[in-house]
Amino acid sequence: MIKFFLKILMGFAGLFLLSCDSGDIYPEKYERNDGITVSATFVFDNPETFPSDYLLIFGAFNDRQTTPVASVRIMKPKNQEPVNVSIDNLGDNVTSIMLCIANSGRLPVFSLFETDINVAGGNIAIPESKISLTSYERIQNLVFEQYNCVSCHQGNTGARNLLLTADKSYNALVNIASSVNPAKNRVTPSDTGNSFLLDVLTDADVVISQPHTGFVTRNDDIVLLREWIKNGCGK
Ligand code: HEC
Repeated sequence: MIKFFLKILMGFAGLFLLSCDSGDIYPEKYERNDGITVSATFVFDNPETFPSDYLLIFGAFNDRQTTPVASVRIMKPKNQEPVNVSIDNLGDNVTSIMLCIANSGRLPVFSLFETDINVAGGNIAIPESKISLTSYERIQNLVFEQYNCVSCHQGNTGARNLLLTADKSYNALVNIASSVNPAKNRVTPSDTGNSFLLDVLTDADVVISQPHTGFVTRNDDIVLLREWIKNGCGK
């Protein structure tokens, strides 16, 4: 967007120059200002949980807007090689950059990495950073909170005594027997087959008074839950 704007502005400046005979209109001190470049290198773990329904974007932000003033989309790397990204032509209104999972309107829904930047010093290169794609924090934010599970699974007990609020959810799920299907745990580390959480969200044959199969609408979020369980339920 900013790039587009700059191009238009520079186009106008060009027209102006062409229509004037005198070359003195812009004295020597006139300089083109192409802004600064911010570059970064990221290494992603667990590529199975790389977003595909969502966008993964590297964006530059100012204090006033929730959407980035400029951003680039990062596509899934073929292997776990480092990914280099950069944004050019940034103006001095930029105060931070963020690597984030975003919706189709490029509105961030979950931050994977962020840092404040000061563009006054010129171009910025952010050192290589390892990015964890399968964090429990992402599950808490993008599943339990985004899909409003917490509206029913909160308070002192919550539906079926299952609390999915941030401080309670992990301990209420991992290695705790399901009360709807006591043959299984709600979640068993490294055992997706013995994790009723996956059944209740994905299997329409589960017998339950409140069907849950329509709640999680993006496959990315189901994949996230499955991979987190497969990988041993890191906290
Ligand atoms: C509209 C209210 C409501 C929402 C929203 C809701 N749940 Fe539930 N949930 C229930 C009820 C009620 C039960 C128990 C149903 C029964 O007793 O048959 C339940 C049961 C469960 C169980 C089984 C617990 C056990 O011990 O066997 C899990 C797991 C679960 N919900 C997870 C979720 C997740 C994850 C979400 C969000 C994606 C969610 N729920 C959203 C009401 C809700």
